[in-house]
Amino acid sequence: MSDRQLRVSKIRDGTVIDHLPAGTALSVLAILGIDGSNGEGVSVGMNVRSGRIATKDIVKVEGRELSQEEVDVIAIIAPVATINIIRGYEVAEKTRVETPTAVEGVLRCPNPNCITNQDEPVTTRFRVLDGHLRCRYCRGLIADAAVPDLLAVGF
Ligand code: CTP
Ligand code: ZN
Repeated sequence: MSDRQLRVSKIRDGTVIDHLPAGTALSVLAILGIDGSNGEGVSVGMNVRSGRIATKDIVKVEGRELSQEEVDVIAIIAPVATINIIRGYEVAEKTRVETPTAVEGVLRCPNPNCITNQDEPVTTRFRVLDGHLRCRYCRGLIADAAVPDLLAVGF
């Protein structure tokens, strides 16, 4: 590494979400509910040069390992992302995300008339299709790009 390059530092414990398509880092932060308000250490690299994909984004979250629900939603907007769990500065686990076939209870439906937006005890459920999701209840379609805007309250 020459002195013209500055690399985001390594973390001690936490999660590195790597090989994100350029332009998706802020959506990943939204999926993880990270807005800087709760003191988590977070590093974000955008349009970082990378061998495997031309440029990539990368998100490093200190002191936190992600839930499967969080990883499933990340997979929708970043199908080739790598999740690295870091413990004691070492990569303890490395997995590629896998696109889920359905997402349950994580996203809200944008259709105000959908039963999931009435006062009914119905959990949202979307089937994951190519480039979009389909609501099980109202059959409405959601583009993958809209997913970060539809995170259910309290996720
Ligand atoms: N990393 C980190 N802190 C650590 C260890 C690793 O931030 N203590 C980051 C690295 O900078 C890299 C990612 O976690 O972005 C994965 O680390 P590693 O497997 O060592 O790198 P690569 O071999 O380049 O990963 P890959 O093969 O997945 O591209
Ligand atoms: Zn719906």
